[in-house]
Amino acid sequence: MHNRRNFLGDIAKAGLIGLMPSTLKHEYVKAPAGIRFLTPPYLQCLTNDSVIIRWITDAPASSWVEYGESTTDRKALPEAELGLLAANTRVHQVVLKGLQPGTRYAYRVCSKQIVDFQPYLMTWGDTANSEVFHFTTPAIGAGEVSWIVLNDIHDRPASFAHLMQHNGKDPYDFVFLNGDMFDFQTDEQQLIDHLLTPVTSLFASQTPFMLARGNHETRGKYARQLPEYFNNPGNQYYFSFTRGPVHFIVLDTGEDKADDHAEYSQLVAFDDYRERQAHWLEQALQRPEFLKAPFRVVMMHIPVFHSGEGHGSMHCRQLFHPLFNKAGIDLMICGHTHRYGVHPADPATHHYPIVIGGGPKEGRRTLIKVTADRRKLQLRMLGDDGTEVGQYEVKATR
Ligand SMILES: [Fe+2]
Repeated sequence: MHNRRNFLGDIAKAGLIGLMPSTLKHEYVKAPAGIRFLTPPYLQCLTNDSVIIRWITDAPASSWVEYGESTTDRKALPEAELGLLAANTRVHQVVLKGLQPGTRYAYRVCSKQIVDFQPYLMTWGDTANSEVFHFTTPAIGAGEVSWIVLNDIHDRPASFAHLMQHNGKDPYDFVFLNGDMFDFQTDEQQLIDHLLTPVTSLFASQTPFMLARGNHETRGKYARQLPEYFNNPGNQYYFSFTRGPVHFIVLDTGEDKADDHAEYSQLVAFDDYRERQAHWLEQALQRPEFLKAPFRVVMMHIPVFHSGEGHGSMHCRQLFHPLFNKAGIDLMICGHTHRYGVHPADPATHHYPIVIGGGPKEGRRTLIKVTADRRKLQLRMLGDDGTEVGQYEVKATR
């Protein structure tokens, strides 16, 4: 135990605490505490040339990612904010930029424990290195995309593996979590046990997922911390992106009851938030990437029809539905009602099909698989026993 104690003693004797002379070197002391990963790495926002890699450790650390095409000889640091690299945190995020499209990469994540962070004396602990994982960036101009939708898991972590087994070995580019993964948010351990552990054990260290908010991701004392763990394009819960022949629009449908409902303790403002999204949506529906895409798919938690007449459903219907009817969308995929179903386009109401995934109880859960190439988009909904309980096909007209 030389080291830190003696070093501090020397400084104290010299009367120099708080005023470090340039001749004095920092000491680095290996602490015995150790550091452990609480999650394997999970991928967010994979694009042609970038990806966000996230993970959690049990102790504060300075972190980085080692990566490369055949070896992991390149190093990426966390982004700097106001000149400071993100550090001394347990929830880590490193963005890999400048990747080659359509290329397979190897990577591992590394966290060097910060045992004590003093202004002139860092006490470093061990470094934890993950195993090596792989991911592949999408090719520019890819003619195909496939994805999986899970919804309304409601704090039943075993449902992930149960449903994903029904996919078999079919490839998929990403998994879309369409809301209500939880009943409400309590703490980080719940995020780890009920979401991050199951998805990383199944796919998330190799294949990214996106989390759309359901009305149950807005509840509980930890709901306001969710953005510290997940990334979506633009770091919003409403966003758009294009993959292959599909342009996606994702909305955050918010709570299902009125803002002044006693359940929310005067702590929510979803009417205003949905109105802001409607303004954003109006613009999004005029962009070339929406207009030119062979397929236009909307994914959001609360369906605008077939989900009762509660305030959330009706407000979404009032704000979003006329825009979708006017602009023309090919498919809307939702959850929320716990009753799966395929509701074809109807000239009297919604001029687009609405597919609703089921859940969360055994016998009512679904896995939705969608594949699209430039000619057609195919959706298959599989029930709890893996048999098909719904399907929809759209032929390209653009
Ligand atoms: Fe819901």
